[in-house]
Amino acid sequence: MKLLNLGSCAIDHVYQVPWLVRPGESLPSLEYQVHPGGKGLNQSLALAYAGAEVSHAGKLGEDGSFLKTLLDDAGVNTSLLEVAAGPSGHAFIQVTPDGENAIVLFGGTNKQITEADVQRLLAASQADFLLLQNETSALEATINLAADQGKRIVFNAAPMTAEVASLPLARLELLIVNEIEGEAITGKAKPDGIIKALGKLYPNTSVLLTLGAEGARFASQGQTHQCPAHQVKAVDTTGAGDTFTGYFLAGYVAGLPIEDCLAQATKAAALCVTRPGAATSIPRLSELAQLN
Ligand code: RIB
Repeated sequence: MKLLNLGSCAIDHVYQVPWLVRPGESLPSLEYQVHPGGKGLNQSLALAYAGAEVSHAGKLGEDGSFLKTLLDDAGVNTSLLEVAAGPSGHAFIQVTPDGENAIVLFGGTNKQITEADVQRLLAASQADFLLLQNETSALEATINLAADQGKRIVFNAAPMTAEVASLPLARLELLIVNEIEGEAITGKAKPDGIIKALGKLYPNTSVLLTLGAEGARFASQGQTHQCPAHQVKAVDTTGAGDTFTGYFLAGYVAGLPIEDCLAQATKAAALCVTRPGAATSIPRLSELAQLN
């Protein structure tokens, strides 16, 4: 099965800070690095490293050519990734010594995707699955156009915005959320409540609920699968959700049992948090053997 990721790409500006900056505070940083990132790019890389056949479509600025090179080198098909006027998306990321982060985003060219672009991209793609994140524009039109064409749509509702709840989520095959996103959509705070409420709101949409250090749950048509997380020392959690999503989906589109998809994804996400950066911290498939 082929997968098209109409996804974001970003340049991550990462600052090591003693603590997350407080309102009104000017905080000297301890280190600064520029990394490739963006939820879409991270997820395409994780899919490719996990062995999936993935195309990445979207828009980059002239400043983002190194992001395309990274995707190409990983074996991601970038023939539908365009260069547009203006700066690429970027993220301003603070990381504390215990691996906690805080992220400010600028959408840049990720927000220049139009309904006409989506029509053209869908016509050019033979993919069975379409993957989306909440970092690109024209999402409502994208979901509706792709669903009308029978695409199997997976949407990662990150980062959470007010717009998410008004998207046609009932037309998705799979909705991927963390607890914060799940609570924002349903008003329920606990995993059980979130899963139950999403099942009521969107009965034909499966749900993958990521729970950080607590692991993850997959729910579909009243059936639930759960997987605990591996206990590791976190250095930087940025990109762990994307790593989980990419590795889970690689198994899912290949038709593997959900337990195997969850097990592989939790291993990959655990290794990811032991390394700095987002895209640069995603493990290769062969590295997963380090964890039992
Ligand atoms: O999920 C991590 C990503 O979120 C970072 O790479 C950053 O670009 C933000 O989009």
